[in-house]
Amino acid sequence: MEQVVYVDGTFVPQSEAKITVFDHGLLYGDGVFEGIRAYNKRVFKLERHVERMYHSAKAIDLAIPHTREELTDLILETCRRNNVVDGYIRPIVTRGPGDLGLDPRKATRGPSVIIIAQPKIALYPKEKYDKGLRLVTSSYRRVPPQSLSPSIKSLNYLNQIMARIEANQYGADEALLLDIAGYVSEASADNFFVVQNHALMTPPTSTNLPGVTRETVLELAATVGVEGRERPFTLYDVWASDEAFITGTAAEIGPVVEVDGRKIGDGVPGKVTKQLMKAFRELVTTTGTPIY
Ligand SMILES: Cc1ncc(COP(=O)(O)O)c(C=O)c1O
Repeated sequence: MEQVVYVDGTFVPQSEAKITVFDHGLLYGDGVFEGIRAYNKRVFKLERHVERMYHSAKAIDLAIPHTREELTDLILETCRRNNVVDGYIRPIVTRGPGDLGLDPRKATRGPSVIIIAQPKIALYPKEKYDKGLRLVTSSYRRVPPQSLSPSIKSLNYLNQIMARIEANQYGADEALLLDIAGYVSEASADNFFVVQNHALMTPPTSTNLPGVTRETVLELAATVGVEGRERPFTLYDVWASDEAFITGTAAEIGPVVEVDGRKIGDGVPGKVTKQLMKAFRELVTTTGTPIY
């Protein structure tokens, strides 16, 4: 059955869900979005995702034409109209339609609001979760906060797409990006962690997206008996780590077993990583905002 998409005030079948070619989201990447997941008829950390969307919008001086409560209700309604039990939700707010020219004042009609709720998303095949991912360090650096805050979840993903193309060309599963100073930043669309001496380390969010999965893993650390730390670290720390993994709403927790041709730990998904994957699964399937 065809999915139903919310576009600017109405729910329409997917094949009829359209925005104009003059939308500044398309023309200039002028907009923000979220990636949210539903498990077992509940939306995981919905409030936090909505909050982050408003923060991203505020950062680009975009007024979302709904209250947080209204947007939350629209997200849940889009899930209901698509009978979502487990699924992936993508709210998008663009600057809206306007004349050519990047000045946001040209988008006189106001923002476009789109919500997609699809029943499934699988980023990597199951085998990658059992055997682990191979990463290469990208030659592209993550856009620095001096140019555009990497904490804004905006419609500008070319920095990460360039890194992903490079990783594809090297036959790797994912790219690891460094920040402008050479410290580890994040993967193309996921945060990055290493495990060293029974402690988790992930870079501070000044150089990457404040990932909801990242926050969740830091919260879960204590429950599996490890300490979670946020601090800058280098590729040396990655190569010398006992375990590594990526985190993201779509990817969840993905074990990393190789970076730049060097095995991480024993070259298989690590013990702490596996414990966190289990704890994460337990949490996402038992908490969240009920859809129905
Ligand atoms: C650049 C980037 N980093 C990290 C993440 C992971 O964030 P989250 O766990 O909130 O999905 C994402 C995905 O949204 C992303 O696009």
